[in-house]
Amino acid sequence: MSDVILVRGGAPLNGAVEVLGAKNAVLKLMVATLLAPGRHVIENAPNILDVEIMGRVLDHVGASCVRSGTTLTIDVPEDPIPEAPLDLVRQMRASILVLGALLARTGEARVALPGGDDFGSRPIDYHIRGLESMGAVFELRHGVLYGTAPDGLHGTEVFLEFPSVGATENLLLAAVLAKGTTTIGNAAREPELTDLAEMLQKMGAKIDGAGTSTIEVHGVGSLEPAVHRTVPDRLEAGTYLVAGAITGGTVTVERCRPEHLRMELRKLADTGCVVDANEDSVTITGPDRPTAVDVATLPYPGFHTDMHPQMVAYLSVADGTSLVTENIYAGRFRYLGELNRMGADIHADGQHVVIRGVDELSGCEIDGCDIRAAAALTIAGLRADGLTTITEAHHVDRGYDGWVDKLASLGATIERA
Ligand code: EPU
Repeated sequence: MSDVILVRGGAPLNGAVEVLGAKNAVLKLMVATLLAPGRHVIENAPNILDVEIMGRVLDHVGASCVRSGTTLTIDVPEDPIPEAPLDLVRQMRASILVLGALLARTGEARVALPGGDDFGSRPIDYHIRGLESMGAVFELRHGVLYGTAPDGLHGTEVFLEFPSVGATENLLLAAVLAKGTTTIGNAAREPELTDLAEMLQKMGAKIDGAGTSTIEVHGVGSLEPAVHRTVPDRLEAGTYLVAGAITGGTVTVERCRPEHLRMELRKLADTGCVVDANEDSVTITGPDRPTAVDVATLPYPGFHTDMHPQMVAYLSVADGTSLVTENIYAGRFRYLGELNRMGADIHADGQHVVIRGVDELSGCEIDGCDIRAAAALTIAGLRADGLTTITEAHHVDRGYDGWVDKLASLGATIERA
């Protein structure tokens, strides 16, 4: 796949796009299949790089994952190989979620330890501590985490230091087959996690409280395969809405769940957008120029950190000064330099990003950095004068199925080189 996106700014986006299932749900649903042998079906799966990589993780474990359109059929063996190798974990940190599932299913797991990334170090200490309290024992040797559960996993009370999405999911995946009851306190409440719990329930798991801060799981002896439809991607939806907004156009996002974007829609409305949300679609009309607003990223239902770069790109042309405070990651700021090369006036001070709105951006060559940054820089390019060339554009393929085509269908002058 080509590594460059070319976008020529100026055209207002108009029309409708449909979103697919959430990247951050489908990856976990794929891991959940490892908990039960047999044939599982996951519908509404976006065709993105991260799903492909998770498919390779499943292959490595001995399962097979076959795509037909947006449907994944996953066959899970009786005896999975309890291992996720470094080349895959390095490409996608979410591979770490096989830890809980494999420990629960086989009593052991060998998972290469993921490194940091552009957001900061991203440790997995909450995952480890929680699984240890359920009876797992870990040893780190040559960069690989060896986990065993000598006496099986047992239910316990875990209280997370922070409502980590991944840690909550890893514990949930482990707890469904553990002996007794596990209570996860200060749990993440993200819709993708609720989706995972719903699939696990279809598989026969006994889970109460998913979507709240306290999840109670009553372990069962075994689980059955399931058919499940992935929850729509609120980040994909939100990204197209911001893209429409920055161009002053009118964009409808269909097959989404606007209730999962309440804070993001409220903030967009505060900038002067007209927002019309229905049960499964939302239409936005962007203002000529956004009004500056302050935003703080927070765990769900707060403003999503994965909408932060797109919002900063949008606010770069606002009337006034905005302050975006990043509360989830220590650093998520490499793309700011790229926006400044386009003429934005942005600086980070600790976890705060100060954005002094400029009248216009001008296209130039910029580096895609990461999934959301690449999307944000494309969004900036839609408003910029002249041609913006986004290199390292493969990052966007990790999270957006048909990014360039969907924007082109809305009227953007955009192509993959
Ligand atoms: N953290 C720890 N220790 C842990 C776990 C997390 O200190 O053991 C910290 C992290 O370093 C971070 C914060 O807690 O500062 C939140 O991390 P969390 O565990 O909630 O994030 P995650 O599960 O690793 C998922 C998404 C991210 C999204 C975050 C926050 C997936 C595959 N990834 O990551 O999505 O930003 O939740 O909502 O679900 C993306 O899609 O672009 C993306 C990065």
